[in-house]
Amino acid sequence: MQLKVLVLGGDGFCGWPTSLHLARKGCDVTIVDNLSRRLIDERYATASLTPICDPDERIRAWEELTGQRIGFVNLDLGKSFDGLVDLLASTKPDAIVHFAEQRSAPFSMKSPAEKRYTISNNVRATHDLVCALSECAQSPHVVHLGSMGVYGYKSTGFARPEGYLTILTQTGNGLKEDEILYPADPESVYHLTKALDQLIFQYYAKNNGLRITDLHQGIVWGTQTPETALDERLINRFDYDGDFGTVLNRFLVQAVLGYPLTVYGSGGQTRAFIHIRDTVRGIEQSLRNPPARGDRVRILNQVTETHRVLDLATMVSEVSGTPYQMVDNPRFEHAENELEVSNEQFLDLGIRPTRLHDALLTEVTDIARRYIDRCDTSTIPARSVWQQAQADLADAEDVASASGPAPLAAE
Ligand SMILES: NC(=O)c1ccc[n+]([C@@H]2O[C@H](COP(=O)([O-])OP(=O)(O)OC[C@H]3O[C@@H](n4cnc5c(N)ncnc54)[C@H](O)[C@@H]3O)[C@@H](O)[C@H]2O)c1
Repeated sequence: MQLKVLVLGGDGFCGWPTSLHLARKGCDVTIVDNLSRRLIDERYATASLTPICDPDERIRAWEELTGQRIGFVNLDLGKSFDGLVDLLASTKPDAIVHFAEQRSAPFSMKSPAEKRYTISNNVRATHDLVCALSECAQSPHVVHLGSMGVYGYKSTGFARPEGYLTILTQTGNGLKEDEILYPADPESVYHLTKALDQLIFQYYAKNNGLRITDLHQGIVWGTQTPETALDERLINRFDYDGDFGTVLNRFLVQAVLGYPLTVYGSGGQTRAFIHIRDTVRGIEQSLRNPPARGDRVRILNQVTETHRVLDLATMVSEVSGTPYQMVDNPRFEHAENELEVSNEQFLDLGIRPTRLHDALLTEVTDIARRYIDRCDTSTIPARSVWQQAQADLADAEDVASASGPAPLAAE
């Protein structure tokens, strides 16, 4: 696959392995990142469990091992519009993979400062990208990482379709069939930004003929891909803190520490999952199958399985021997939900999923157990709450100290 690809947010958890995978598949890759994720770690005193190298060092290591050069541009998407326009003009990419957003739901709910930062960063990043593209003669295919959370988690009794809902409207001439974007029902400010992204994409695909694929992705688990596992200098990040650590990562770390896995609420929340290896393959396949100019946004549910949180806890508990415990839910969400997801279009791309059952043990032994000495246990508990009433329940001093120094600026 000989495409020139810009990977926006290519220093992050999904972006780094995607950059390496695409390079290995023959793409000419340039990473574009403002390193804000690393800055958040510094400001909030959190860190990846795995020892990730600086961007320069890991790019150098990749070149040393494979002979392939990956470009790196430090650009703040959403703030440096002229820089973006110049970059597009000088690189003339065939495709752009857009990961460059603040991606934690709990972080986005921490306080007004983080809510404003998340809206400002994510919406401006997405809009600047498509706005810049609408001014260029070229029309690179944009693949964006959206979220299953745009659909919301209300039980519906039917499978979430891939992006579009067929509706029947009563008109003067009888029933009229139509397809609309599935009504968004976000449960955090972060998910709200993904819902806003959808509308931005719909507008620019329709009015400017941009070619866009929006992947409504589930929670990504797993750490390594064949490329990041080549050398420890290429290792991918593994977040386990209360804000950026997703449920499975937190369980894995707790399991190795022998600390009962903390299940929020009843554990009846059902969520969608995908392994990082399938994420990078899904992106490759989307790049190989671009929509045509004039097509509506192609939306795929980049998801391979769904699990109840309690079932996840049971699975990790069985593998590790560490029990689980129920704790108050810091989130405002449905206590229990069914989640059926349609992912035919995604699987039709040729993905053979890595299942949780098959790879869980590797995560426990190769990652959590191996790097547990780097763990700062004080960062594991949930510190962000969805509603004031929940905040009032928490120890005020605890919350104040955990909210840390000033966050990144919204403007
Ligand atoms: N990790 C998941 O489970 C998951 C699930 C669904 C969707 N997604 C989406 O996939 C994308 C990548 O997620 P991730 O887990 O790799 O997150 P991440 O935070 O590890 O990576 C995001 C990268 O984008 C960069 N970035 C953020 N804002 C930027 C800006 N304005 N300009 C330039 N660079 C910027 C960050 O520095 C970081 O390197 C996000 O859009 C996220 O919403 C992730």
